[in-house]
Amino acid sequence: MHERNILKLAENVYWVGVRDWNRRLFDALIPLPKGTSYNAYLIIGRTGKALIDTVNPGFENELAEKIRSLINPEELDYVVMNHAEPDHAGAIPYIMKIAPRAKLVTTNRGAKMAQVYYHVSPEKISVVADNDVISLGDKTIRFIEAPMLHWPETMFTFLEEDGVLFPCDFFGAHLAGGVYSDEVDDYLVHAQRYWGEIMMPFRAMAQKALEKIAGLDIRVIAPSHGPIHRKPELILGAYKRWSAGETRPKAVIAYVSMWNSTDVMVKQMAETLASEGVELAFHNLAITDVGDLAKDLVDSRAIVLGAPTVLGGAHPLAVYATYLFKALRPPTKFAVVLSSYGWGGGAVKQVQELLKDFKIEVIGALEVNGPPTEETLRQIVELGRSLAKKVKEET
Ligand code: FEO
Repeated sequence: MHERNILKLAENVYWVGVRDWNRRLFDALIPLPKGTSYNAYLIIGRTGKALIDTVNPGFENELAEKIRSLINPEELDYVVMNHAEPDHAGAIPYIMKIAPRAKLVTTNRGAKMAQVYYHVSPEKISVVADNDVISLGDKTIRFIEAPMLHWPETMFTFLEEDGVLFPCDFFGAHLAGGVYSDEVDDYLVHAQRYWGEIMMPFRAMAQKALEKIAGLDIRVIAPSHGPIHRKPELILGAYKRWSAGETRPKAVIAYVSMWNSTDVMVKQMAETLASEGVELAFHNLAITDVGDLAKDLVDSRAIVLGAPTVLGGAHPLAVYATYLFKALRPPTKFAVVLSSYGWGGGAVKQVQELLKDFKIEVIGALEVNGPPTEETLRQIVELGRSLAKKVKEET
């Protein structure tokens, strides 16, 4: 392996991850337009060697080859499993085989998962708790429990002497390309999308984790997906805003339309909001990328759902979007529902029912028979002005 495929982060600290340029879907749900990377790191201490996380199944050989270009894998003392999801832990069985003396280091919950998912025997597992340290001689790794970011067992590893934080999924982005985040022009757009897809449902846990690491002398953040942060303040600042649920005078319009009636309604709403100075993110659910929708939900203050009636209820894509909206738990404060039907309504009632246990103010709902009339469009203008007022007044 040529050394150009290995990145040196600090003295004897290396990125040995892999790039998955062709992956286009994660969890059979999230589109990955730019692929992703599975970042693993190797720390070579004077008296101990540790691998931080592994890679997705299928990339075991590439990882092993990179490790071999630096050390003999048999010399590995520790394989740190910050997170048990297979994109980082899937190569553990392979690595444990070529590193026979290595102990798997993980949290208590992680230990159970390692046994269930990867058949690691209990005597090969070393359980660590919050603030435990392992000395590698001239290098010390400290473990920071960070549960539900985004699984129950997740933890961060901090390399004290070099100030490198390995937070696994946290602070990541699904990008196959790029080395340092400050070199990628639209890095924060990708990071926001990733936050919306993966971390947004766990905002409270994210705030706790940010408080926990606030006192650390972090010089580099090395996540398990996408570019590395050698200017950590960029991503730390964004995570502070997103986890606090800071929103902007912005509305997401998420809709589906079969025969254009709902389309005309949401477009009137969009015109009204735009002319009132509200930033818009327009998503036709029949063609939109749900990752892009998740990204826009991160900082939008309002959502307009356009949900026509079909087969006696809301269109399935509108039901899906409402379900996803609730699952992602965005900080959105206001909602409007717009709908049309052919011979019998029901969509608005169903969407409102789906939203009823979600803390959001539905400031209006309009359900019309057939194409919208001039009167309907006038009502939408009124509703749009009311929504714009709320969105602009809220901070
Ligand atoms: Fe990148 Fe939760 O795995």
